[in-house]
This record gives sequence, structure tokens and C-alpha cells, in this order.
Amino acid sequence: MDKIKILAIESSCDETAAAVVENGRNVLSSVISSQVEEHKLYGGVVPEIASRRHAENIVYVVDKALSDAECTLDDIDAIAVTYAPGLIGALLVGVNFAKGLAMSANKPLVPVHHIKGHIASNYITHPELEPPFLCLVASGGHSHIVDVQSYSEYRIIGRTRDDAAGEAYDKAARSMGFDYPGGIYIDKAAQNGNPNAYKLPRPKVDGSEYDFSFSGLKTAVINTIHNAQQKGIEINTDDLSASFQQAVCEILCDRLIKAAHATHHNKIVLAGGVSANSGLRKMLTEQCEQNGFSLYMPKLSLCGDNAAMIGAQAYYEYINGVRAKSDLNAYASLPIDWVFNCEKNAPEKPM
Ligand code: KG4
Ligand code: ZN
Repeated sequence: MDKIKILAIESSCDETAAAVVENGRNVLSSVISSQVEEHKLYGGVVPEIASRRHAENIVYVVDKALSDAECTLDDIDAIAVTYAPGLIGALLVGVNFAKGLAMSANKPLVPVHHIKGHIASNYITHPELEPPFLCLVASGGHSHIVDVQSYSEYRIIGRTRDDAAGEAYDKAARSMGFDYPGGIYIDKAAQNGNPNAYKLPRPKVDGSEYDFSFSGLKTAVINTIHNAQQKGIEINTDDLSASFQQAVCEILCDRLIKAAHATHHNKIVLAGGVSANSGLRKMLTEQCEQNGFSLYMPKLSLCGDNAAMIGAQAYYEYINGVRAKSDLNAYASLPIDWVFNCEKNAPEKPM
């Protein structure tokens, strides 16, 4: 059988990205144009600016993805696009561009859920990995424990009740004076700090063993800084970063390992921007070893937003017959367990 080549487009937040991926696993090209330097000036992503930059960059990015892969549109079997979740104005740029391209080139259009894409970044990194497995998705907008039953069936086992892990990292980082997005700065500072220096809470969620809550932890960091300021005591940022990182990693690993035992999974997968975190990778590696679980993590270049992961998931959507029509919409929020109904041309809650 001929290999299936998919041109994938991603514009859900502040990266304009395009990639060509063969059979869901082989990345022929991956181009990412990041806007982060501009959003840094405002301490977070400004949705209006994000949409404008996507609109300005998308033609160049898609063109480069095709030329880097030494392809033309004629060689492409389908065009895939992230249609949810994310910033609506940002998503719409990618969705509308993909619709136009698919229509003019007469190619099928495949809608892809961003978080399913993050999970699929592991299919690229680990060609042998196949569902079923249990996945911890930790990104700027999401923290979920997902039972990935197949390439198209997902069951949410646990979720955050308030902030996502990455969001907690970014807010804690901001209070310590780090630039946006602060996760990576805390991670670096933590490597020189003492994780037991500051006492921080490990909040539990009433009624669910597998849910997370990070807003109390984030507030505890902010209170620690305010209290120190009032008393004229200097904060040791390395120590506070290490203490915060230790708390986040303990919370994430605790819920994930418990959920793995409860769901009888011994294959554990990590995904999302926070999967780049060195503390989380180390703690999870140790705990999976202790519990006899095999662990799969995306390579660092695939942890953040990119289009290669969208192309990887798109392959499985494509072979399952998922197709969108030219009036496909974008959705700012969409649970991962919803499925795309091709007749309705919209996602729907599974029965
Ligand atoms: O998956 P992603 O690129 O975007 C979303 O889909 O949200 O995740 C971005 C998040 C940001 O909150 C960022 O601070 C966090 O991932 N992040 C990290 C690290 N690298 C990125 N958090 C902790 N440690 C890191 N090394
Ligand atoms: Zn993402």
C-alpha cells in the first residue's frame, strides 16, 4: 500500500506550525514559527496579536513545510488541521486556511483535536507504541489523566478542578519575576534549589482520587513571596522553584500511578508542554520503574505545540474515515472524549 502523506496545520495558541507526516509516524518536515517573544512583553498570550501573526505567517510556514519535505500539494493525501481546543481567533486562522487549501487542491480535510495531537507526539517518538495506555496530559491549558483505549477512543479518568499544571507553573513563575511562559525558567532554577526549603501544600480534591487542584499551590507560592516581602526577608528563587516543582510533580505522579493501578494499565505515557519538565520526567521514570510500568515520553522537541503531532494523530483519523466539510467550525473548548461526527460536520458527545 502507498504511504499516506498528510500536511498538518496547527494554530491553536501562539505557534504557527505546519508539518508533513507519513503514515502517522515519519516526520518529513516540521516548521514552527513561535510568537513567544512578542507575547512575553505582555506577560501572556494576547489573543488578538496571536490571530494576526498566524494570518501573517501561515502561508510561509505551510510553504516551507512542503518544500522541506520535498513535496508539492500533488504528493499530499489529506490536509489536517487543529480545530479545537484553543484560542478561537487563533484556531480560526488555521481552520480557514486549511479549508481553503483543501477545497482548492481537492484534498480531504481532517479535523484534529489538539490534545489528541499532544498524545500522538509519542507515536512519533516511539514507533512501537500503540494504545491502549494511560496518559498524563499536562499542558498550559489542560491537565488530564486519560485512558487511551484506541487511536479514537478516550476516557477521562482524572482532571484538574481549577488551573492546568502549565498555567500554575506560569503564574508561579510570574510571581517570582520570571518571563512568560515561566515553566522552563522554574524548571531551570529548580535544578539549583532545595525542594524541601519551603513548605507548600499538596492539595487533594474531595471525592476524587484522580483529580488535581493547583490553584491553592499557586496561591501558597504567592503568599510565601508576600510574607517574605512584608518581613523584609529575601526569597531564594532557586529554592522556591525547587519546592514548587517538587509539589507539582508529586501531585501529578501520585494521581497517575494510582489511576494506573485502578485501571490495570502498565503502559504509561506523558504528553503536553509540561512533559518537557526535567523534574517530572525524572520522578515519573523512577516511579514507573518501582511499579514495573513502562514509560513513554515525547522527545523534547515534540513536547510543546507543533504540527507534526497533529499530522501523527491525523493519520489515524484519516484511516478511520474522519473527514470535515468546507463549513467546519473551530471550538475554543472541546472535551477529549467527544468524537467528530462527519455527517453533522461537528464534534459530539459519545453515546
Ligand atoms: O502544550 P503547550 O505547548 O501548550 C498548550 O497546549 O497549552 O504547553 C505550554 C505550557 C506552558 O504553561 C509552559 O510554561 C509549560 O508548558 N512548559 C513547562 C516546561 N516547558 C514548557 N512547564 C514546566 N517545565 C518545563 N520545562
Ligand atoms: Zn498544546
